[in-house]
Amino acid sequence: MNRREIVKLLGLGGLSFYSKFGYSKNKSNKIPIKPIVLSTWHNQSIKANPIAWQILSQNGSALDAVENGVQVCENDINNCCVGLGAYPDRDGFVTLDASIMNHQYEIGAVAALERIKSPIHTARMVMEKTPHVFIVGKGAQDFALNQGQNLESSDLSPNALNAYQNWLSKSEYQPKINIEKNQNTPPANEFNHDTIGMIAMDANGNLSGACTTSGMAFKMHGRVGDSPVIGAGLYVDNAIGAATATGHGEEVIRTCGSFLVVEYMRRGFSPEKACKLAVERIKQITPRDPKSIQVGFIALNKKGEFGAYALQKGFDFGVNTNDETKKFEALALI
Ligand code: GLY
Repeated sequence: MNRREIVKLLGLGGLSFYSKFGYSKNKSNKIPIKPIVLSTWHNQSIKANPIAWQILSQNGSALDAVENGVQVCENDINNCCVGLGAYPDRDGFVTLDASIMNHQYEIGAVAALERIKSPIHTARMVMEKTPHVFIVGKGAQDFALNQGQNLESSDLSPNALNAYQNWLSKSEYQPKINIEKNQNTPPANEFNHDTIGMIAMDANGNLSGACTTSGMAFKMHGRVGDSPVIGAGLYVDNAIGAATATGHGEEVIRTCGSFLVVEYMRRGFSPEKACKLAVERIKQITPRDPKSIQVGFIALNKKGEFGAYALQKGFDFGVNTNDETKKFEALALI
């Protein structure tokens, strides 16, 4: 096999769709470091990325950027799927999951966290202030209170209460990610997204990521999805790149999805191709009808190139390399 064939096999032969928006090597073969942040679902990115970008543009760390960025969605009482305003589980409780990872393989996560405003901050405190990496339920709540957060009301937000009452009236005890208004929309789309995952590179070339969610609406009480599971909903390898996921958490956990994307980038695939290969793996092994589920990945490599791929159409994401949040539609398998 000659070099050209090897390059083709590795998928390095052509620029990915997104590469022209990323950064490539300069003539001296040095990679210029330029900060970048991207996050899942453009309608969230448009609010969250500017806060992250503000930090990155002032030489702040990628870790601070992603934490503060996703907190915008956690604080938004009208967000259906992130933070305390989100839709509850089938028993009427809002339970939150989050994970964070920095450039030194340090990780923190929380799951089934109730009545705490910022799960991502709690996850960061798990990472920085404990000898552990994952704390759940009442223990996570106690820890958050101990770290200075308040015990918030257990009342549902007006939107969540309305959605919950509608759901109860049908008594469909089937958790689903498609919080339908329109049954014709694909599962998990820009109007009923389920997570914000954000990955960033700072001016020092360091990568970090954060992922936070209320999980599937009307899930079983105690159900945990991919978002707080390091390697599933989020993974960062500062030598290679970062990835995060949105969509059906069970399928992302089954494939260690974000880790898989980063490992494909390690093998030399572009971020877009790495995401595509992970989505193909999900389609190949899921025991469900692939048309009934949605999964989307976004990824960023050390060169600042980024990409995304989804199982179904409808997944978009937002990217900042300056003050403007650019919207991109991910390509899809189905
Ligand atoms: N992707 C979020 C969840 O499945 O919980």
